[in-house]
Amino acid sequence: MKKRKFKPADRTNRITYAIREVAQEARKLERETNAKILYLNIGDPTKFDFDVPQHVKDAMCEAVQKGYNFYSPSSGLDELREAVVKREKRDNDVSIKPDDVLITSGTAEAILAILAAAFCPGDEVLVPSPVYPPYISAAEFYDVNPVEYRTIEEDGWVPDIDDIRRKITNKTKAIIIINPNNPTGAVYPQKLVREIIDIAGENDLFVISDEIYDRIVFSGTKAPNAAALAHDVPVIVLYGLSKVYLATGWRIGYMYKWDPDDRLSDLWSAMLKFLMVRISGFTPAQRAAIAALLGPQDHIRALVNKLRERRDFVYRRLNEIDGISSTLPDGAFYIFPRIGISKYKGNDKGFVLDLLRQEKVLLVHGSGFGHYGQDHFRLVYLPPIPILSEALDRIERFVRNIK
Ligand SMILES: Cc1ncc(COP(=O)(O)O)c(C=O)c1O
Repeated sequence: MKKRKFKPADRTNRITYAIREVAQEARKLERETNAKILYLNIGDPTKFDFDVPQHVKDAMCEAVQKGYNFYSPSSGLDELREAVVKREKRDNDVSIKPDDVLITSGTAEAILAILAAAFCPGDEVLVPSPVYPPYISAAEFYDVNPVEYRTIEEDGWVPDIDDIRRKITNKTKAIIIINPNNPTGAVYPQKLVREIIDIAGENDLFVISDEIYDRIVFSGTKAPNAAALAHDVPVIVLYGLSKVYLATGWRIGYMYKWDPDDRLSDLWSAMLKFLMVRISGFTPAQRAAIAALLGPQDHIRALVNKLRERRDFVYRRLNEIDGISSTLPDGAFYIFPRIGISKYKGNDKGFVLDLLRQEKVLLVHGSGFGHYGQDHFRLVYLPPIPILSEALDRIERFVRNIK
């Protein structure tokens, strides 16, 4: 009998993740040539000079020592759900109940739960473009159709309201916003968030608002919270501890619903069923999350100040390079410049791979973030200035040498 080679599910072919794909290329190059590569591709602050605040680490250790090593309920520890309620009241002036909150293993799992359980095959969901890639991959994996709406580069990458209106069909179920945005660093002003909520209301849709970078903003103190602006429009807010609280590897996040007319409760039960399949989130991190959300918040100011300096530095250096131009990002830790070099028109991946091979700097090509990301790249400015400076020297030299 000929032994078969086992075949994976076709639906996995729909998963692409530009950020990790280019990283594979870099690792290969590293293995083959021993090259020392500057990685400016992944948004993980703990890889650089940022760390989880000490009191949050202490809470994690204490949780393990005190026996919080059991399965938590699939919806999350009740005391954390209550802490989320308090945090949302304190920071966003939103009044929700613990039952409105689901704790997830990172915001990534909340994205999966929503697309798996809140949408039917063939439903459409509007996503900002350029977009954080898992929104596209998760949607396609679950046979949901992600429809990209344009964000306007010249205006700092804010959503094009007319394009959102144009792209609504009778299959559209929800509008996603990511604010502050990955990959563009845009922060959508309150007026615009309200306009998007109004469009959702007029068209009987709900809003999904990913606010994981909410306190990492450079003018003002916080990006607008969609639930606080929504009145009777249903909103699901996604949050996590990977960015503002720097705990990427702990895999802890949450989502909550703002649902005054009880229109999301069936979706909520369906998402809870999805979360039951994985039994429980990581219990010690849930205890630590209480300390993060309700304990001292002083680290945030230091984090934002450090990032502002790095943002200003890369913004200035990038715009000094002939053929590269960028708008000023106002949040998160990404910058998304345009490649205006004829050799690479329509081939941003070529630009990124050639830069990698010649100068050993790793960026991510803009087209990996959707249609409106074409002819751009994303640079993560988390590293300290000396590393950023070296990377910018290399990018400058690469562009200067393009024939
Ligand atoms: C917009 C956005 N949402 C969600 C995530 C996932 O974060 P987590 O570590 O909480 O899964 C990221 C991570 O980069 C992100 O940029």
